[in-house]
Amino acid sequence: MAGRHTGPIFDSAHRHPAIREYPAMRDPRYDILFEPVPLGPVTARNRFFQVPHCNGMGHHHPTAHAHMRGVKAEGGWAVVCTEEVEIHPSSEVSPYIEGRLWDDADIPALARMTEKIHEHGSLAGIEPCHNGIHGANMYTRETGMAVGHLPVGTYDPVQVRRMDADDILALRRWHRAAVRRSLEAGFDVVYVYAAHGLNTIGQFLSRKYNLRTDGYGGSLENRARLLREMLEDTLDEVDGRAAVACRITVDELVGADGIDRPDIEGVLGLVGELPDVWDFVVGEWENDSSTSRFAPEAVHEEYVRGLKALTSKPVVGVGRFTSPDTMVRMVRDGVLDMIGAARPSIADPFLPRKIEEGRLEDIRECIGCNICVSGDGTISPIRCTQNPSMGEEWRRGWHPEVMRPKTSDASVLVVGAGPAGLEAAMALGKRGHRVVLAEATQALGGRVAREARLPGLAEWIRVLDYRRGQLDRLPDVEIAYDSRLTAEEVLEYGFDHVAVATGCRWRADGVGRWHLRPIELEGIQILTPDDVMAGAEPEGGRVVVYDDDHYYLGGVVAEALARSGHAVTFVTPAARVSEWTVNTLEQVRIQRRMLEAGIEIVPSRAVDGASAGAVRTSCVYTSEVEEHAADALVLVTSRLPDDGVAADLVARAGEWEAAGLTSVRAVGDALCPGTIAAAVWDGRRYAEQLGEPLDADGVPFLREIAGPSPDG
Ligand SMILES: Cc1cc2nc3c(=O)[nH]c(=O)nc-3n(C[C@H](O)[C@H](O)[C@H](O)COP(=O)(O)O)c2cc1C
Ligand code: SF4
Repeated sequence: MAGRHTGPIFDSAHRHPAIREYPAMRDPRYDILFEPVPLGPVTARNRFFQVPHCNGMGHHHPTAHAHMRGVKAEGGWAVVCTEEVEIHPSSEVSPYIEGRLWDDADIPALARMTEKIHEHGSLAGIEPCHNGIHGANMYTRETGMAVGHLPVGTYDPVQVRRMDADDILALRRWHRAAVRRSLEAGFDVVYVYAAHGLNTIGQFLSRKYNLRTDGYGGSLENRARLLREMLEDTLDEVDGRAAVACRITVDELVGADGIDRPDIEGVLGLVGELPDVWDFVVGEWENDSSTSRFAPEAVHEEYVRGLKALTSKPVVGVGRFTSPDTMVRMVRDGVLDMIGAARPSIADPFLPRKIEEGRLEDIRECIGCNICVSGDGTISPIRCTQNPSMGEEWRRGWHPEVMRPKTSDASVLVVGAGPAGLEAAMALGKRGHRVVLAEATQALGGRVAREARLPGLAEWIRVLDYRRGQLDRLPDVEIAYDSRLTAEEVLEYGFDHVAVATGCRWRADGVGRWHLRPIELEGIQILTPDDVMAGAEPEGGRVVVYDDDHYYLGGVVAEALARSGHAVTFVTPAARVSEWTVNTLEQVRIQRRMLEAGIEIVPSRAVDGASAGAVRTSCVYTSEVEEHAADALVLVTSRLPDDGVAADLVARAGEWEAAGLTSVRAVGDALCPGTIAAAVWDGRRYAEQLGEPLDADGVPFLREIAGPSPDG
């Protein structure tokens, strides 16, 4: 059992070997953030609390998961938690990959994580979970159960059955067993999870789900009965060996139909003194993890403010906190005792340590894009736009702060200062290489700088801000502006390696997912997102935006055009706008915002062609044709790499030796257009791999392979 942790903020014995020792130069106004906080029987060494977050690794990739959490502890988070952890086969959320603690066989994987967290003097927290109406049990096929007879929360054709008194006793038994196993795995903080509408305890508490008429339904006291019982069971089971945390929704944002202010105040009146620490969230996951397109930092303050006064126990809260000043205000104003963070800890696992060491300019601020969340929805290991090492800590040995030292004195020319070029130049510079970053224009940032000017995407400029700040302090990296280079010039410069990060351009011929060949477009103004971002205006008032890309840009461009006074018709072959943004928890909000902006939405239709004054679409099911009056057509369909310099250099491979050139590689969107996260990641990969032995035919990373169990 790991007990109190009251040692130094950063235990130098457990520092990453390559991390520089900084003199402690913390600004005294942030001292308050580094005060220890007692959590019942254990003590957090500071106020930084990494709240539970899933990661697409969970029980499938336990070693990768353990290392990811270990890096957070190394970065100074006093408490580092798991994601929701399934406690019984009768309630699981496959295919989504969460934690799992069904029996003793699951303990070693979680113990690996607590070891990694303890190595750096942090507390390890676990969030046992019974999913109630969200347990479709696609893997176990067990019959799910919940507060009432209800369909599951997904569209899986499955219902859960109403729990009776015996089922409630069984759930309490399973939770207790999970708590016992959590202690065996070494956890110091054990949650009772009642938030987000994603679990049985929260669903019992909420008028939205609970229509029972027995002792667990009706009055607040009855609805809170299961919560009280589970808290008491957990306290009894841990018996002072770990802290008990309770994560709860303080407002379901549906008024009196769900948990509202009077309700939560009543709950705190009933059980406010039971857990050792409260963790408050607002709404469902979509509200809690709002993107920056829809919510600023600290958006939930108004809902949480005042609740701390109703309990003597410490309070954790979230709000995509990246500003140390906001954090201090939360504590000084008595809103929170601990700064909860999921995304800020993903974008910068070393955020606490940077504040501690007075290195605010090194903080890699979360941009609020929710690419991290998409790992859950797409059932793949977590990734982050700002932090390309997220999820790669173990399998590729990447660290958020430390680059492996260079293995040669090779010099590198990086052509193009978009996200991939910036990341490659920065990472190469940190490895110790001499780098020139050549940018064709007078501004850094490439697509990030352009897209950040679109409605709602302003915070995305942080991708540039962080890297520009780092590059400014790297002595061997030089930035050359106004340098649109040709292959001829590149060969003359005599660099050992050239990375071509010149980005991509949107196609203007309609080719995308639906049309694999160009379509007929005549007599009408055709624009692409590149044109709109460059300031081109549709020539008339009526614009059709055709989105066959399905991520954010089509919706954002439509919103921008509607804001500038155009009558916008949004056509998409998908059934919903910005379909992929279900994975970033934004789809409903995007569609609502577009409807509110008066944009006409035409789903399930593809643009087949256009002529003067009209755009022709056809139904994706019946092929039935329609014409839409329009003066201009904006095509958001697919992109082509701008890889001309790379292609020219490859064509002149015979001249490389004389020029001293060893390698040329396109990087990021210039290699293959994708997300900003993918471009940043590829820039990092380029820098990591330069000069390292590579097996082009092998698996490029470590992986965990489930071995066959004894057969028979
Ligand atoms: C990728 C991701 C996964 C999450 N998974 C969980 C989870 O398993 N359990 C939970 O209680 N909250 C989960 N959350 C919600 C976070 O704990 C947090 O409350 C929310 O993101 C707001 O905090 P932030 O603004 O600091 O990200 C998740 C959030 C993210 C970004
Ligand atoms: S993926 Fe985006 S939202 Fe998530 S932590 Fe990284 S920058 Fe923040």
